[in-house]
Amino acid sequence: MKYDTMILHGAADHDAFTGALSIPVYPASTYRQADVDGGQDYYYSRAGNPTRRALEETLAVLEGGECGYAFASGMAAVTAALTAVLKAGDHVVATKDIYGGSYRLFTQFLGRFGVSHTFADTSDIAATEDAIRPETRALFLESPSNPVLKIIDFESMAALAKRRGLVSMVDNTFLSPYFFRPLEYGIDLSIHSASKFLGGHSDLIAGAVVARDRNLGREVGFVQSTTGSMLSPENSWLLLRGIKTLGVRMKAQAEGAMKIAHWLSGRDWVNQVFYPGLPSHPGHDIITRQASGYGAVVSFVADSKERAAAIMKNVRTCTVAVSLGGVESILSYPAKMSHAAIPEPEREKLGINWRLLRLSVGLEDPDDLIDDIDRAACSM
Ligand SMILES: Cc1ncc(COP(=O)(O)O)c(C=O)c1O
Repeated sequence: MKYDTMILHGAADHDAFTGALSIPVYPASTYRQADVDGGQDYYYSRAGNPTRRALEETLAVLEGGECGYAFASGMAAVTAALTAVLKAGDHVVATKDIYGGSYRLFTQFLGRFGVSHTFADTSDIAATEDAIRPETRALFLESPSNPVLKIIDFESMAALAKRRGLVSMVDNTFLSPYFFRPLEYGIDLSIHSASKFLGGHSDLIAGAVVARDRNLGREVGFVQSTTGSMLSPENSWLLLRGIKTLGVRMKAQAEGAMKIAHWLSGRDWVNQVFYPGLPSHPGHDIITRQASGYGAVVSFVADSKERAAAIMKNVRTCTVAVSLGGVESILSYPAKMSHAAIPEPEREKLGINWRLLRLSVGLEDPDDLIDDIDRAACSM
């Protein structure tokens, strides 16, 4: 089955009971037990729910993994993936420029439970290996990284993890499984903020983890049911519905992103454009080899803080908001929004300065987005 067909028919494409093409929402918290000794699929919805199960099977198929788990948010998914493999005394090497919420999890939360971390430039394999300590247990990766879109060579990274006995996990939110499937490269866990491209309509907060191996997957499932961080049946249904159009959305949004990235590259008020689809991007050859598309997020550096502010203030078609991956184009200011949790000196080192803007390209005609940004940028 080709991937576009698999999105629709690879897992639960109808309700076994009624034949309905839309898997019903099962709001039940509990299920009648015919036999007190168990032996049935469902008994309590924290542990298992038919709507969520249909979604989780779909997620596993999309990522090419053994088992999938759906969470109440991307951060719940990140937390479950990490806590499924870590215990007090363990150390993690993590991508330097990760999403601000994941940064906060490492810097302000996991330490309370005796888990330490080192941030490394994971687009550099040698620098990543240098950060590994005897007590390192996991690699936490994000690619393209957020917001400056650095690219990881997953073939080398998975080989490194294997050689050093580490569990490897990647936040695959930006490319979505439509463009990139890290488990095929030997990565152990693929994580998503499904609030972004998987959901696709800016109407849902959800997360996902898919495991390459069933035993590790069971550990993730254990955290999900033990901590109760699972996705509701209603949101599982909404996410299933969003996923049906993943292919057409990703293709069209990435096409728009490519056009806008090229256009931005030719503006004299733009100092730098970050888009891995541009041949000038340092990770272009790697992503071209390992993924089937470049995603729909473009970041760029304006020539002044005032220009960046004018763009944010004057765009009309682009929506100024946090988040990304929806059908509407979203323009955000990482230093003030998604990455505000990172102290300014750290942010500056990562290139997240007051001139950097991040555009998640939606389904509008890219020419309208270009006109909008052009007018806003030239309004000062
Ligand atoms: C790359 C990435 N990972 C994780 C998250 C967290 O996801 P959520 O907001 O669904 O908890 C986000 C949210 O912006 C993100 O961009």
